[in-house]
Formats: sequence, C-alpha cells, structure tokens
Amino acid sequence: MRIFSGIQPTGSLHLGNYLGAIRQWVRMQDALLPGQEAIYFIADMHAITVYQEPAGLRQATREIAAAMMAAGIDPARAILFNQSQVHEHAELAWVLECVARIGWLNRMTQFKEKSGKDREGASVGLFAYPVLQAADVLLYKATHVPVGDDQKQHLELARDIAAKFNTDYSCEIFPLPEPLVAAAAPRVRSLRDGSAKMSKSDPSDMSRINLTDTADDIRQKIRKAKTDPEPIPQTAAGLEGRPEARNLVEIYATLLDRPVASVLDEFAGQGFGQLKPALAELIVATLEPINARFRDLLAQPDKIDAALATGAARARPLARETLAEVHDAVGFLK
Ligand code: TRP
Repeated sequence: MRIFSGIQPTGSLHLGNYLGAIRQWVRMQDALLPGQEAIYFIADMHAITVYQEPAGLRQATREIAAAMMAAGIDPARAILFNQSQVHEHAELAWVLECVARIGWLNRMTQFKEKSGKDREGASVGLFAYPVLQAADVLLYKATHVPVGDDQKQHLELARDIAAKFNTDYSCEIFPLPEPLVAAAAPRVRSLRDGSAKMSKSDPSDMSRINLTDTADDIRQKIRKAKTDPEPIPQTAAGLEGRPEARNLVEIYATLLDRPVASVLDEFAGQGFGQLKPALAELIVATLEPINARFRDLLAQPDKIDAALATGAARARPLARETLAEVHDAVGFLK
C-alpha cells in the first residue's frame, strides 16, 4: 500500500481543505503499518499552468508546506516535498503525454471550467495538466490516492493512461491507482452560498474560514453565516433544499467525527442561534493549535525548506527507479 496525494500552492489553506483533504492525509499517515508509505507533495508545477507571480508562488509553497506540517503531516513519517524538486515528474509526464490521447483530455471537465470561453488562449500546460497529475501518481506506483470528488475524473484518466502504457509496452510497470474519496469528508460549502464549495478564490473572505483566521474572525464569520429561519430538523431528509443549513450541520458533525443524525438528535427543534456558537467554538478549538504551529513554522523558512529538501531526497530514488523501468520499456538506450 502506497498512499499518494498532493495540493496546489495557490492561495492559503481554509477549513474546506483541512476537513476535505489534509485531515484525512494525517490520519492515513498515522495509521500506516510497517512497509506502507504515505507520500504527500505540493504541486508547484501544476500551479504555473496559470501564471503565478514568482515571489507569490515561492511564498505560497512555503505556506502550504508549513500548514501541512502544522496540521500533523510529519516529514519524518510521510514523505513531503514540492514537485519541482524531483524532475522525474516532468520526464515521466512527457512519456505519458505520448500515451494519452487528445480525445481523452478534451473530455476533462476541469480544463473546460478553467479555460472557460478562451480555450485557444489557455496554456498548453493547462491542457496537459491531467497527464502531469497521472505522472505524479504513477511515478511512485501509488495504490491509493485520497482526493476530493472534483479530482475523480483525473484519477480515472491516470488509470486509463497506466492501463494503455502497460498494454502498449507489454509490461506491468504501473499498478492502477485507486481513488479514495473519503465519506467522512463532506465537501465544505461557502458560508455565503451553500451551492458553492468553500474556495480560496471566492472574492468574499466571509465565505470561508482560513487557517490563519483569529478566534474572533471565526466567531464573526459563523455568526454571519447564511442560514434559513427554519428550526434544525429531526432527520437528514429535513435538510433537503437547505444547503446552508446542511453545510453548518455537516461541518459540526465532521469536526466531532459524529454522524449527521446524532447532531440532528442533539439540536432538533432548536434554531441556528443555538448551533452556531457551539460550532464556532469547535472550529476555534480545532484550528487554534494548528494556527499556532503554522505561525511558528512560518517564522523559520529555513526549517520549512530543509524539510522539503529532505522529502525530495527521499522521493527521488523511488522516482528514478520507476523512470528507469519506463525508459527501458519504451526502448530508450541507456
Ligand atoms: N490536481 C490536484 C488538485 O488540484 C492536485 C494534484 C496534482 C494531485 N497532482 C496530484 C492530487 C496527484 C492527487 C494526486 O487538487
């Protein structure tokens, strides 16, 4: 079992990233048995598929690394690095670009969303993005990839590419990676609009809880979070058509690792005036220690860079081994 996942260094972390991804990564790392591995990386090469101001990218990479460590990713147990330090990612991506079909990439919904109306004006890298992602996963022969459901299509593509490579070159170099879409990780929604996900690109800061928010920011954002005047229902069916209400209940349940039904049992018949203060204190209590470690790490950029360099040094031999097999399979002379 080899767990692998990554996150782009664009913008800072928020509660949605934490509950939707990082918390699972930490738990998986903590549950590793001997012989199993967890590899987590920061996708800085993916980030530049859309222009990033260089100083901003460098800072965002450090911040994401610090946030991951603050949240419990332990560079002594998991391998943690930034993608560009292991150039085998780019080298494998090239070979896989020759295996993947243009038609497959044309179906990727994320490219359609990100390129919008100006498809011709999008970078070639943005189009090839999912192939680089396949290379990330396959380079380490990952077996399990914890991702949010917006990444499922990319993972399916990685499986298709792996299968076609194995067939074309009559080999079994790549195991087919399994996406792990955690049931315990609901998609955290915007606090202003329950139909949109909590996102770092939302122009309204009131829509999200940032990892760097103070306790007072958090209390204010939860107090002002959009809800409806109906009381909290008895059963989950009563949350149908009430996306904002559902979001707050789900965040509360997820933070406590309790089923939604048990939260509804506790609060049924009450208004959000009762749930909101409890929710705010729960978020504060969860994020405060992470926030403190985050600030502490950010004040020591050398320590962050050293951790990433160590992670890259551990990743490289694994990456080299796969790339050598691939080069041999396709017929490159050594
Ligand atoms: N595309 C992913 C995202 O935006 C980030 C990513 C890049 C990734 N390579 C990966 C995730 C490999 C999992 C595995 O969230």
